[in-house]
Amino acid sequence: MKKILEIVSSARGAASNSTQLSSAIIEKLKTQYPGSTVTQRDLVKKKYPHLEESHLTAFFAPPQNESEAYKTAIQHSDEAIAELEAADIIVIGVPIYNFNIPSALKAWIDHIVRAGRTFSYGAGRPEGLLKNKKVYLAIASGGVFSEGPMKAMDYAEPYLKWILGFIGVHDVTTFRVEGVSLPELRETALQKGLESVVV
Ligand SMILES: Cc1cc2nc3c(=O)[nH]c(=O)nc-3n(C[C@H](O)[C@H](O)[C@H](O)COP(=O)(O)O)c2cc1C
Repeated sequence: MKKILEIVSSARGAASNSTQLSSAIIEKLKTQYPGSTVTQRDLVKKKYPHLEESHLTAFFAPPQNESEAYKTAIQHSDEAIAELEAADIIVIGVPIYNFNIPSALKAWIDHIVRAGRTFSYGAGRPEGLLKNKKVYLAIASGGVFSEGPMKAMDYAEPYLKWILGFIGVHDVTTFRVEGVSLPELRETALQKGLESVVV
């Protein structure tokens, strides 16, 4: 039995390829781990704000700072980190927009990567503080980035693996629905991606 956190970052609702791929991963996980619970965080419906000065001040304020301004600014980050800490498995849906992750997902990342909470420099080098988490990336793209000539333009998966590793999550598996904009692949891309899922 696992606690699963699903992160949705596509704006396309039920038609979203990344969300359908995430759902396929979660269905397999629920079969593998009966009794598992799923919490969904939809970053399009509930937006995390771009970082403003108030957030930065709060992130680096002493923990005993209890002002209202501090509490308001830190609220999103605390909430997002608490959801991560509570989860055993995190499934992140990632539509590729303009060769990278959507800004909604980046905004969430900016709230979860926080000194003293998810990483520290205590030993003179960065140390991730999230332990024993498993992440599945469900990436959907118009082109093909897992292999071939566009592989060098795959900025999303390397970045996500790096930043997740930075906060302590090193066990990351990627599944893809790719080629949905390519005439020769678009008919089969979703089915192929869904069938590739093994957990
Ligand atoms: C605004 C926008 C930008 C996109 N940029 C790219 C891109 O740079 N490279 C690519 O391969 N596909 C791109 N696509 C295609 C999407 O990655 C593809 O439609 C994918 O299925 C989106 O995920 P979703 O179905 O979960 O929303 C873009 C789509 C949109 C809407």
